[in-house]
Amino acid sequence: MTGPFIRPRRLRQSPAMRRLVAETRLHPSQLVLPMFVADGIDAPRPISSMPGVVQHTADSLRVAAEEAITAGIGGLMLFGVPKPEDKDAIGSVGDRPDGVLNRALAALRSDFGDDTVLMADTCLDEFTDHGHCGVLTDAGAVDNDATLRRYESMAVAQARAGAHVVGPSGMMDGQVAAIRDALDAEGFTDTTILAYTAKYASAFYGPFREAVGSSLIGDRRTYQQDPANRLESARELLADLEEGADMVMVKPAMSYLDIVRDVADRTDAPVAAYQVSGEFAMMAAAAERGWIDFDAAVDESVLSIVRAGASIVLTYAAPDVARRLSLR
Ligand code: PBG
Repeated sequence: MTGPFIRPRRLRQSPAMRRLVAETRLHPSQLVLPMFVADGIDAPRPISSMPGVVQHTADSLRVAAEEAITAGIGGLMLFGVPKPEDKDAIGSVGDRPDGVLNRALAALRSDFGDDTVLMADTCLDEFTDHGHCGVLTDAGAVDNDATLRRYESMAVAQARAGAHVVGPSGMMDGQVAAIRDALDAEGFTDTTILAYTAKYASAFYGPFREAVGSSLIGDRRTYQQDPANRLESARELLADLEEGADMVMVKPAMSYLDIVRDVADRTDAPVAAYQVSGEFAMMAAAAERGWIDFDAAVDESVLSIVRAGASIVLTYAAPDVARRLSLR
């Protein structure tokens, strides 16, 4: 009697066997929940393209944060949504202590202290009336170095408000070094920088624009990376590490798993990946039509991002994934 001598199916025969030999293990503490907090609303406002995700009020944010932390997730990434009339050309609300994001950071820091890792998006697009991630020249181009001055001020304001981590997501050259210097000069030497190292100009950010009420005209292709490029991310990584990045991030995640793997292979720093709004929306929309099982698809996608090399995953599904992990 002859048959296959090598039978890989032996290791797949039961849940217990599969659990024993699993190569990738996910823990709730690896998950970070991005959250939106809006000014001037008196009830949470649903984001239609992201079922279950809302713009929070200051109060609902605290409740939802508490639930997420109880589910065991590792951190929160906060985005602020100012009132439309508060937006201006330089995103003034971003670094005002009474700006929506900085107030929310202060509230969460006082609620949770050091029990969770509080992260802040350090970028101007939520706060500018033109929707770009930086300030503009008279000719309408995004002015790299003038934008750095704005990021410095924002990062310091966020650290002062209570952020443990600042996340510069604007892809300006030199943003990590500029922010590191500014934080250190103000005594925030422990404030950690999660650098958006490889951030691509992606169609998958679509629903985010609704989430933050962004009014972007044009696109971000002069500052975010071309999806065609892989080696460019390696150069961005070297620059960010030299400039003092503590953690590095790839974004989006699912269409860029090769980049996640490259970055993980090239650095010993913690690697994060951001499963962005459009990735979440795709799965939610397909599930609404009964075409895929949402929970299973989300769990598989997050596991795949970790398998590709990320040790931290930002996902809008973080609390649910965490709760399912804890049940297992
Ligand atoms: C910029 C920023 C964006 C996202 C996070 N930070 C939008 C953009 O770059 O256009 C997108 C996140 C998502 O799509 O979930 N501040």
